[in-house]
Amino acid sequence: MPSLFDSFALRGVTLKNRLVVSPMCEYSSIDGFANDWHLVHLGSRAVGGAGLVITEAAAVSPEGRITPDDLGLWKDEHIGFLKRITDFIGAQGSVPGIQLAHAGRKGSTYTSWKGSGAVSVLDGGWQPVGPGDAPFADDYPRPAALDAAGIQKVLADFRAATVRALAAGFQVIEIHAAHGYLLHEFCSPLSNQRTDEYGGSFENRIRLAVEVVRAVGALLPNHLPLLVRISATDWTAGGWTIEDSVALAKVLKAEGADLIDTSTGGNVPHATIPATPGYQVEFAERIRREAGVATGAVGLITTAAQAEEIIARGHADLVLLAREELRDPYFPLHAAHALGADVAWPVQYERARPRHQV
Ligand SMILES: Cc1cc2nc3c(=O)[nH]c(=O)nc-3n(C[C@H](O)[C@H](O)[C@H](O)COP(=O)(O)O)c2cc1C
Repeated sequence: MPSLFDSFALRGVTLKNRLVVSPMCEYSSIDGFANDWHLVHLGSRAVGGAGLVITEAAAVSPEGRITPDDLGLWKDEHIGFLKRITDFIGAQGSVPGIQLAHAGRKGSTYTSWKGSGAVSVLDGGWQPVGPGDAPFADDYPRPAALDAAGIQKVLADFRAATVRALAAGFQVIEIHAAHGYLLHEFCSPLSNQRTDEYGGSFENRIRLAVEVVRAVGALLPNHLPLLVRISATDWTAGGWTIEDSVALAKVLKAEGADLIDTSTGGNVPHATIPATPGYQVEFAERIRREAGVATGAVGLITTAAQAEEIIARGHADLVLLAREELRDPYFPLHAAHALGADVAWPVQYERARPRHQV
C-alpha cells in the first residue's frame, strides 16, 4: 500500500488516509448560514474519498467575516444545517472538520465575482478590526484597533463558535491563524505595531493566537484534535519568518495543538511568492522536524505521485488539496488507482471502479 493511504490518528479520531480537502471559501452564505451548496460541495468531496473534509473559514462573529457572503458560526441557528453536512460526511467514512476564523482587517470586502475592495456599510459592510488602524491595502477598509475589551470579545467569540462546532458534529477544529487574517496580523511585525502586551516582542505578538488556541483547546473533549493553520513566512523582509513559525509551533504544541497546517503569505499585498509545485512543503517539513509536531502540507500539490512522495518521505503527515479538489472531487479515488492502492469506493459507484472496466 502506498503511504498516502495509510490511516492517521489525531487523538481519538482516525483518518482513513492522508488526503484532506483544504478549507475553501465558497462565499455562498446568506447571514452566515450553510445551505444546499455547502452540502453538495463538501459532501461530494467526502464521496470522493478524502480522509478529512474541512469547511471553508467559518467566521466566529459577523465582523470576523471576509465578505458578507461568508459561512459563519456566530449564532445557534447556524448549527442545524451544519449538522446535516457533518452527518453526510461522516456517513461516507470521512471526517468532518471546520476552520474557525476571524478576518481582522481583511474583513468587509467584496466576494471576488461581485467586486473588489471595501464594501460600504450601506452595501452590507461593517467596521473591521485589527491590531492597529492601518488598512491591508489602499482599497481595503480602515480597521479599528482592537482594545482590551475587543480582544476579550474575540476570545469569547472563538469559544462560543467552538461550542457550536461541537454541537454541529465536527470532529476536527482548525483555527485559522494564516493568510493575513486577524491572528496572523497580530503575529507579524509588518501588521502589528501595538505597544501593549499584544505587540512588540515575539511573545507579545503571538499572545492572541496562543490565547485563542488555549481557549478553544480547553473546550475540546480529549479525543478531538485541534489543528492550527499558519503562514510560515510573510515572504517579505522584516516580516514573519520560518524561524518564528518553528518557535510558534513549539508553543502551540505545548498548548495542545495537534497539527500545524502549513501555508504561507497573505499578510501584505505585494509579496513575491515563488509559487512552484509544492513550494510550501519545505516549511511543513521544517516545522515537523524542528518543532516535533505533526504537520500538513498544502499548496500546488496536484498529482498522486507528488502527494505520495510528501508522505512517504516524511515531509508532512497530511496533504491538503484545494484547487485540485475543485477540479476533481474524486481525486483521492483516482490517486488510489494511480498508486495501486486498494481502497473502497462508495457502493453506489462500485460498478465504475477502474478494475471493473470490461
Ligand atoms: C476558492 C478558494 C478559497 C479558499 N479559502 C480558504 C479558506 O477559507 N481558508 C484557508 O485557510 N485557505 C483558503 N484557501 C487557500 C487554500 O486552502 C489553499 O491553501 C491554497 O489554495 C493552496 O492550495 P492549492 O494549490 O491546492 O489550491 C482558499 C483557496 C481557494 C482556491
